[in-house]
Amino acid sequence: MKKNTGAQLALYPAPVIVVGAMVDGKPNWTLVAHAGVMAHSHLMLSMVKAHYTNKGIRENKVVSVNVVDASWLKEADRMGCISGNKTDKSGAFAYTLGENGAPMIDAAKVTMECTVEDIYDLKGFDNFICRITGTYVDESILTEKDKIDYRKFKPVLFQFPTYEYLETGDVLGACMKMN
Ligand SMILES: Cc1cc2nc3c(=O)[nH]c(=O)nc-3n(C[C@H](O)[C@H](O)[C@H](O)COP(=O)(O)O)c2cc1C
Repeated sequence: MKKNTGAQLALYPAPVIVVGAMVDGKPNWTLVAHAGVMAHSHLMLSMVKAHYTNKGIRENKVVSVNVVDASWLKEADRMGCISGNKTDKSGAFAYTLGENGAPMIDAAKVTMECTVEDIYDLKGFDNFICRITGTYVDESILTEKDKIDYRKFKPVLFQFPTYEYLETGDVLGACMKMN
């Protein structure tokens, strides 16, 4: 028996990222779990309009998407607890500017640099439609063919019901070879 629990968002656990953007000439960082794939070339960031970071994204139209792993989770979590509207977070991470000018976190093993092509407005949220223009990967987690090795790199996941972080786990099988 299944019970209809109402319109409850149930797409968890979701990968945790830190979105980086320049705001008034300084970097700002925000923790985001509501991000999604739109095509192989695009992703979407769903961010509350009042966030300080949104101001910079709307102005400059470039962001970095830094994928969190356990090695810097504590610092990443902090970016979800404080807002640039009240506290200067620009010194939180050592960073490098990408080709588009988005600030990218040095500690992140995977960072996508993106250009914002559109904003889908929805009930207090800016849903930023982003084209991926470059993906920077730490060589220690790259395969010989320059693919990310997810046996080595374990993104942190977030689940809403108990507000907890998880980690990706075991390989269950080879895709399209299960039968
Ligand atoms: C685990 C976690 C996930 C979050 N995911 C999102 C999200 O997907 N979208 C969003 O707008 N805010 C999200 N937040 C809240 C922002 O990270 C938080 O309000 C932050 O302080 C905003 O910073 P800013 O005002 O400097 O941009 C999340 C916070 C936590 C702790």
